[in-house]
Amino acid sequence: MNEIKIFSPATVANVSCGFDVLGFCLDTIGDEMIIKKTNKKGIHITKIEGYDLPYEAQKNVAGVSALAMLEDAKPDFGFEIEIFKNIKPGSGVGSSSASAVGSVFGMNELLGKPYNKTQLTNFAMKGEALASQCEHADNIAPAIFGGFTLVKSIAPLEVLQLPTPKNLFAVIIHPQIEIKTSESRAILPKKIDLKDAITQWSNVGSLVHALHTNDYELLSKSLTDVVVEPFRSQLIPHFGDVRNAALENGALGCGISGSGPSIFSLCFGNENAQNVAKAIRNVYSKTEIPFEVYVSKINTEGIKILNTNA
Ligand code: HSE
Repeated sequence: MNEIKIFSPATVANVSCGFDVLGFCLDTIGDEMIIKKTNKKGIHITKIEGYDLPYEAQKNVAGVSALAMLEDAKPDFGFEIEIFKNIKPGSGVGSSSASAVGSVFGMNELLGKPYNKTQLTNFAMKGEALASQCEHADNIAPAIFGGFTLVKSIAPLEVLQLPTPKNLFAVIIHPQIEIKTSESRAILPKKIDLKDAITQWSNVGSLVHALHTNDYELLSKSLTDVVVEPFRSQLIPHFGDVRNAALENGALGCGISGSGPSIFSLCFGNENAQNVAKAIRNVYSKTEIPFEVYVSKINTEGIKILNTNA
């Protein structure tokens, strides 16, 4: 195999209570990438469509993660990468992770799969760090493993795959403003109150239990963030109105997707998700801010091969 085309999915990190540890994978939104073996050694980004991003491998998240793998694998050939971006950078649904994951997933296939999913997550984390200026894997892990994941630790890296209740649907609204992850991390406090920590870890524990037991009511009660959302919600216009609309229309929960500005809701079934999407659309239709709304199943497969060339 000399060439591979892949679909690299968008993801929702944090899932309200699990800042930097929880995430889930989306189905309908994602980037496509083509990775090719070349005789010329090194990593060469030859095409980027969709958004204006750097071609220099050291300055591109897909390039940085690819270089991390190349340094370890030391093949006697190089790779060309073409990126077709659909996920807007700075959207909060794992745009940089999709790129960082795509290159290493594709390269691993072309190398004959020497690396497992945890090792791929580790390489991709190096690329993600370029965008957010710190290493975390809560977008990368669900893109690679699919479904819900919990990053138990990053050094050493340990990723837990959590079950996905089958009636769970996500609604995403993406207001077309950019929030840089590095900036939305910079506004967070370095220390938190013990009382808030207790609420938060109780919610993380009960959310994980709810996923294991298909308990949608418990899941709903667990989707609360008292640590990060109070700060970041101020960066997202009409966040409170969107959340109220989602909850009033039966969403199980609603919170900031990753570092924003996207907002996610989790819903029981497609019908409820469509109603929630309509209610959220109504909120933003009354504003001047352009936006997109997506309804997605939880993608339990993760990143996937679209086609290959011998
Ligand atoms: N956990 C990360 C954050 C996800 O919220 O900053 C965005 O990269």
